Amino acid sequence: MSILILGGAGNLGTQLKKSFVSDNIVAWDRDDFDFLDFAQLQRRLFELKPDVIINTAAYNAVDKCETDETETALAWKLNRDLPGVLADYCLEHDILLVHYSTDYVFGGDGRLSSDYDELARPVPMSVYGQTKFGGEQEIARRALSGLNYYLIRTSKLFGPKAENEGAKPSFFDIVLELGKKNPEVKAIDSEISCFTYTPDLAVATKAMISEKCARGIYHLTNSGPVTWYDGVKELFALAEIKTPLIAITPEEWPRPAKRPVFSALANTRRPRLRPWQAALAEYIKTK
Ligand SMILES: NC(=O)c1ccc[n+]([C@@H]2O[C@H](COP(=O)([O-])OP(=O)(O)OC[C@H]3O[C@@H](n4cnc5c(N)ncnc54)[C@H](OP(=O)(O)O)[C@@H]3O)[C@@H](O)[C@H]2O)c1
Repeated sequence: MSILILGGAGNLGTQLKKSFVSDNIVAWDRDDFDFLDFAQLQRRLFELKPDVIINTAAYNAVDKCETDETETALAWKLNRDLPGVLADYCLEHDILLVHYSTDYVFGGDGRLSSDYDELARPVPMSVYGQTKFGGEQEIARRALSGLNYYLIRTSKLFGPKAENEGAKPSFFDIVLELGKKNPEVKAIDSEISCFTYTPDLAVATKAMISEKCARGIYHLTNSGPVTWYDGVKELFALAEIKTPLIAITPEEWPRPAKRPVFSALANTRRPRLRPWQAALAEYIKTK
């Protein structure tokens, strides 16, 4: 079976390549070509003829696309149009499409507790959330015609360094540096959701493909919903960082894009991933 990973040098893509190391994989990233050149993408897909496409390429700058029109347009192209093109190819060639979405498709219903399961109705509250939901809808439309797909919603990725030097650092990467350099660190004690360790998500994705799971929507995160503040507290304890940590409210750290107050994902279809604290302890050892 040949597996194509789009975004293979990114944070999750780098870990997927490690998980699939003994399989017949091909990985493409920005160094190969721009995926938004859809004519070239379709030509290359036709030449390669993969059996599975895993798409990790996405626009992830949540705040930038909220206020800047050019960035907004780019977010729609990458997060909605690209999955649509990939879904068309997969449907036409009867192959599996694996695509990732986010907990930020939720939150607009004002929920304050009770994890969102796979059937919950998305109500995004930011441009980023809308564009990712747009990608979900492109896939859902092709599913009506028989597309075989896994739409995996995940949240707050962190993990070992990506191959792509320019890949977005994770929240933990950033606060680890701040904790080493700054006299104090502030973290929002709100916005409850789940952290997800990229090696765990990659292994769980591989298992779904090997086990030939039923098509549809899946939620995969490490176990245990927490706030950003909870995450940093655990990180500093594990890394033995003594820098004072101050809990703040979202109002004390205004950002252009609105975030859900609560967006924890319930995984009702697959084995639960380990608790986030165990994954974080492993992440610290890679530093
Ligand atoms: N990061 C999170 O916390 C988070 C949370 C929830 C869901 N997700 C979802 O999880 C998936 C994986 O995220 P990730 O953090 O691993 O992403 P990532 O690190 O940004 O990796 C994506 C890779 O795709 C490449 N890429 C993007 N646009 C491209 C284009 N037009 N042509 C060629 N290559 C392109 C990127 O290169 P450049 O860096 O040069 O653009 C990057 O190497 C995404 O669907 C994301 O929406 C992520």
